[in-house]
Amino acid sequence: MRINLAKLEDIPKMQYIHKVFKEVGGPIFKYYIFLDYFKLHISKKTCFVIKEDNNIVGVLCLKKKKWYCEIESLAVQKRMRKKGVGKKLLNYTIKWCKNNSFKKIKLWSYKYFDARNFYLKNGFDELPFSYISNSYVFKKELDI
Ligand SMILES: CC(C)(COP(=O)(O)OP(=O)(O)OC[C@H]1O[C@@H](n2cnc3c(N)ncnc32)[C@H](O)[C@@H]1OP(=O)(O)O)[C@@H](O)C(=O)NCCC(=O)NCCS
Repeated sequence: MRINLAKLEDIPKMQYIHKVFKEVGGPIFKYYIFLDYFKLHISKKTCFVIKEDNNIVGVLCLKKKKWYCEIESLAVQKRMRKKGVGKKLLNYTIKWCKNNSFKKIKLWSYKYFDARNFYLKNGFDELPFSYISNSYVFKKELDI
């Protein structure tokens, strides 16, 4: 499997994988499949795709803040879940953040997706409060 920065031609497949966010409804999640969402990330070089046999099977988009990065969206194609794809993308992102001198990664994850254990298993700490309803908030301090 290879991980690359997303390119414009990857957008249709990324939209397809991000369709999972439509299941929740609401304006934030709708935005995650908009063309402009991906175009913005591609222009900022903040979206990674993981490929198996040249097919995109996972997408992760990051927001760069002043002192930390936020994982804004992460999704793995349904048929490829629980095979280590998400973990690979996450580890790649952690390394990328360290290489770019970020000291922390934060994210919030909507409870609907039930991804809590995924982040715990991958060394993220859950915060005791959430600033967005029905969601978990996680952080990971990075040694740089
Ligand atoms: C959450 C998601 C990205 C995980 O990706 P994945 O490729 O299936 O995860 P991995 O196979 O790399 O799993 C890594 C570890 O986390 C565990 N794990 C993965 N998903 C899990 C889940 N939903 N609940 C509990 N544990 C989970 C795996 O069992 C594995 O554990 P192991 O290392 O002990 O074997 C994927 O399920 C997905 O796209 N879900 C829909 C969208 C979503 O939830 N996005 C994240 C919230 S924004």
